[in-house]
Amino acid sequence: MEQDLSISDYKHLVRPEDYKKIVFFTGAGMSAESGVPTYRGKGGTWEKYNWEKYACQEAFDRNPDKVMDFHEVRRKSVLECSPHAGHEMIANLALKKKSEVRIVTQNIDGMHQRAGSKDVIELHGSLWKLRCPVHGVIEDIGHVFTARKCGKCDNRLRPDIVWFGDSLNREVIEEGVGAIATCDLFISIGTSGVVWPAAGFPEVAKKNGARCIEINPEPSAMSAMYETTIQGTAGKVLPILFVP
Ligand code: APR
Repeated sequence: MEQDLSISDYKHLVRPEDYKKIVFFTGAGMSAESGVPTYRGKGGTWEKYNWEKYACQEAFDRNPDKVMDFHEVRRKSVLECSPHAGHEMIANLALKKKSEVRIVTQNIDGMHQRAGSKDVIELHGSLWKLRCPVHGVIEDIGHVFTARKCGKCDNRLRPDIVWFGDSLNREVIEEGVGAIATCDLFISIGTSGVVWPAAGFPEVAKKNGARCIEINPEPSAMSAMYETTIQGTAGKVLPILFVP
């Protein structure tokens, strides 16, 4: 049964030692209070930029530099942002080792890792990786791309990000689904829940009997799937959700 909680209700709602495996499933709303824009809704990236011009293989094939420039702008803006107390709380919970903690994220911004989280499954790739069609993926951090062509061949490098129309990386998805299918606490934070397969994840967690909690200031497409929905922001709710 769905239950909406107000701020006074969710403080210390969860005792980490009650759970063996906790999965935090995060979307763009997780990074919103760090200053990284979400994708949909007012001020969202897809309101400002037409993804057909900046975030699909066809756009890259038409004008690779325009697409790379757009991703450099995103890199610069993400580097101006910092992880918030919610990212830090998740990283610290993993360090305490009361339960196994895994993060499955749709975010490409690397914010969880910057907060110190190690076990992060990036479903949609990373803004900090580039891919050559022949020589595979390389890490590439910094405001600008180190190179736009592969050093071993003459191929163009593209961001290792799942753009519109791209297939998801099957191994990564299997790893994410595997983590969710075996967790006993599933906490979804800041996703609109409209993109598959992520939209089916609460169902996967529920099959294992996991307690499912959603944190989002607005109702999402998946809210009805959760026994508890907390209408609040990641930065305000997460730091006080767990019993210390
Ligand atoms: N805390 C928690 N949630 C928030 C916050 C906040 N501070 N601010 C906004 N939200 C919520 C919004 O209410 C919305 O439900 O975050 C959600 C953001 O939704 P989207 O912009 O659709 O982002 P996301 O669900 O991550 O998008 C999925 O779509 O375009 C693709 O590849 C892109 O990974 C992305 C995927």
